[in-house]
Amino acid sequence: MTSKLNIAIVGATGVVGSIMRELLAAEREKWGEIRLIASPRSAGKVLNVGDEEITVQAMSPEVFEGIDIAHFDLPDEVSAEWVPVAAEKGAIVIDKSAHFRMEDDVPLVAPEANPEDVRNRPRNIIANANCTTLTLIPSIAPLHREFGLASMSVASYQAASGGGKAGLEALYEQVNKTTPADGLGTKPGDVREALGEEANEAFGAPLAWNVVPKVGGWRDGGWTSEELKVRNESRKMLGHPTLKVASTCVRVPVAIGHAQAVHATFENDVTVEQARAVLEKAEGVTVVDDPGNNVYPTSIDSAGISGTQVGRLRQSVDFPNSLEFFTVGDNLIKGAAENSMQVAELLRKELTES
Ligand SMILES: NC(=O)c1ccc[n+]([C@@H]2O[C@H](COP(=O)([O-])OP(=O)(O)OC[C@H]3O[C@@H](n4cnc5c(N)ncnc54)[C@H](OP(=O)(O)O)[C@@H]3O)[C@@H](O)[C@H]2O)c1
Repeated sequence: MTSKLNIAIVGATGVVGSIMRELLAAEREKWGEIRLIASPRSAGKVLNVGDEEITVQAMSPEVFEGIDIAHFDLPDEVSAEWVPVAAEKGAIVIDKSAHFRMEDDVPLVAPEANPEDVRNRPRNIIANANCTTLTLIPSIAPLHREFGLASMSVASYQAASGGGKAGLEALYEQVNKTTPADGLGTKPGDVREALGEEANEAFGAPLAWNVVPKVGGWRDGGWTSEELKVRNESRKMLGHPTLKVASTCVRVPVAIGHAQAVHATFENDVTVEQARAVLEKAEGVTVVDDPGNNVYPTSIDSAGISGTQVGRLRQSVDFPNSLEFFTVGDNLIKGAAENSMQVAELLRKELTES
């Protein structure tokens, strides 16, 4: 029986890192020392975890000495370099970057789908999936267990904060620069002109007053990296390597909260009533679905909320064994920090209670 585990938040100054600090503060008594780590730019800053003031340390091999669990909230290329260093120093790393997710000897875990995979970590690295897939998994995993998922087609509506602190700031800046303006957005090119060329930098096109069908980088065949993540990471976490997935990922001018319209086809018969009963019992899912009273999930109502919300549940009319639904979740909470905390809790139980 080990005493309390020591925790590092690596990338503590970022948007995900700041939610990690809030979630850790809420269960501070469970954990030992908390260390905050970021780039040399942030070294010496003092950040809070609840009432506790902690000085940020610059990344180095030594900062991982004595750390049991390291939550990595860093850009892909920085994780690629530093995750193995932390693991070598004896920390179990829960990494939120895309770098290790599809490696065979790194489990990709969402507790609603495959909690048992946490124990199979030969490199002491556990990956956290991308925020779009993580907001889909709490609803699709229990439906898959009950009815056998054959295929799904997903359209996402993703918030600016999915692009980190820089993405969120870019949206605020663009909105501030173009509000108010009579008739803005009604004449050819007027928004682009008001924002200038630099508004293309963060998302490839202006995000204020816009809907942008590109999230991530371009890949073969016209797909984006985000669309491939939805397919490949869903397959891995559901343990369903032949699952058929179509996805289109779209950025929308929302600060927080990734939404998805889902068309799912099952091997077995499924009715709306059966699916609703499964979702009402599912961990990490709140059914928000009373269309007659205008009750359905929205992005702004998901911000700051644990888990995911599901609504607009309908039987497909033209497709057998199929359902349509809409799901929303805070991309920084269930889409990132909360999942990482759930994985850490599985580790805490394994390491301190057995
Ligand atoms: N945003 C989301 O919705 C979301 C959801 C799921 C997963 N993720 C993943 O989570 C990770 C963090 O994303 P984020 O949105 O929080 O990004 P972010 O707001 O841009 O924060 C990035 C963090 O990385 C640190 N960092 C950058 N370069 C570093 C270096 N060389 N050494 C040490 N620290 C360094 C930054 O520290 P400084 O402040 O010192 O520069 C900052 O703390 C990414 O892998 C992202 O893909 C994000």
